[in-house]
Amino acid sequence: MTALQEQDNDVYALIEKEAKRQKTMLNMIASENISSRAVREATSSVLSHKYSEGYPGKRYYQGNEFIDQVEQLAIDRAKQLFGAEHANVQPISGSPANFSIFLALLEPGDTFLGMDLACGGHLTHGSPVNFSGKLYKPHHYGVDQNGFIDMEEVRKIAVAVKPKLIISGHSAYARTVDFEKFSEIAQEVGAIHLADISHISGLIAAGIHPSPFPHTDVVMTTTHKTLRGPRGAIILCKEAHAQAIDKAIFPGSQGGPHNNLIAAKAVAFQEAMTPEFKQYAAQVVKNAQMLAQTLMDHGIPVVTGGTDNHLLLVDLQGLVGPGKGAETAKLLEQAGIICNANSVPYDPAPPYKPSGLRLGTPMLTSQGFMEEDIQTVAVLIASVIKNPETVKEVRASVDQLCARIIS
Ligand SMILES: Cc1ncc(COP(=O)(O)O)c(C=O)c1O
Repeated sequence: MTALQEQDNDVYALIEKEAKRQKTMLNMIASENISSRAVREATSSVLSHKYSEGYPGKRYYQGNEFIDQVEQLAIDRAKQLFGAEHANVQPISGSPANFSIFLALLEPGDTFLGMDLACGGHLTHGSPVNFSGKLYKPHHYGVDQNGFIDMEEVRKIAVAVKPKLIISGHSAYARTVDFEKFSEIAQEVGAIHLADISHISGLIAAGIHPSPFPHTDVVMTTTHKTLRGPRGAIILCKEAHAQAIDKAIFPGSQGGPHNNLIAAKAVAFQEAMTPEFKQYAAQVVKNAQMLAQTLMDHGIPVVTGGTDNHLLLVDLQGLVGPGKGAETAKLLEQAGIICNANSVPYDPAPPYKPSGLRLGTPMLTSQGFMEEDIQTVAVLIASVIKNPETVKEVRASVDQLCARIIS
């Protein structure tokens, strides 16, 4: 019996149920992944007991000899992994990290440019319901009719609105991001370039997607998506912005660092430097490309006609109708396939009732799925979309596939 099971069976039983769910359903949320046992051990370690406001060597509390070493290790590994001049490993998650970056580099009311949420951007890139849209003045670029970012269009908007900050990096964009071009445009208009690589940082670390370094001023990534670390985020930047970024994290927007998670980030960064991780990241992309191709072969339209990374967007408008993303996602859940409804470019339906699905391969790849398994998954997804009455049959096939999941 574990201590938790003995002491609090309510919580223990729910964790066990969730663990079972993760192994008996096909989890295809593009932002989710499975971290290693080593990462999870560090996450649940005694390091969470310690208060250590400040930075290595400059703490407001005594007793931080080993915490300092843990944080320095995480900083050194983050810098090495991404080739960055400076790293702050304290951000609690992606949204607060973006908040801190805005706090460091902008004044309230300042103009910035980011991707439209409806085209694949994130809430923190200027949504009116988010701090970024409430406290600052956002302008947006989108995608062309085929779903691709048009860099000439980005440049035109940047020249017209003269933003102080330009954000590249997105939540639902399946194609290679031209970080170099974003930096060039930022330089032309005198803006700072922030690359939010939350989704693709694992692919960048593995050399599968071009890096935003050395051209980009500031880079933010969550650590729990393709990077396969614990929940959290890091900010990487050029030395010129280091002091402002560090001050904006502490004392600007956070208190005591989550030392257990910083240790777990260090573990994940070391894992990401291994040949096995490079192989994993390459497989994630191969799997996503197989998913896209097989869906299209079965008559399911994929935005941009494929993917260069770990995710893709299915456009349901022609097959199921506009605004049917959530309904279809629920149907897929009945079949044991978990994904999320998502807007598609130029979606006629509102964001709360979008017309597409976002599907990703990071978690299934961590669970040992290869292209031939993904091909089977794609056929099952196509069956549910085209023939909802096959849900029960598909669920039975999903059960068989899940029996192969490695933990
Ligand atoms: C591009 C991007 N930035 C920021 C975030 C925010 O991360 P978190 O959910 O950890 O706050 C996300 C999360 O989905 C994201 O996709």
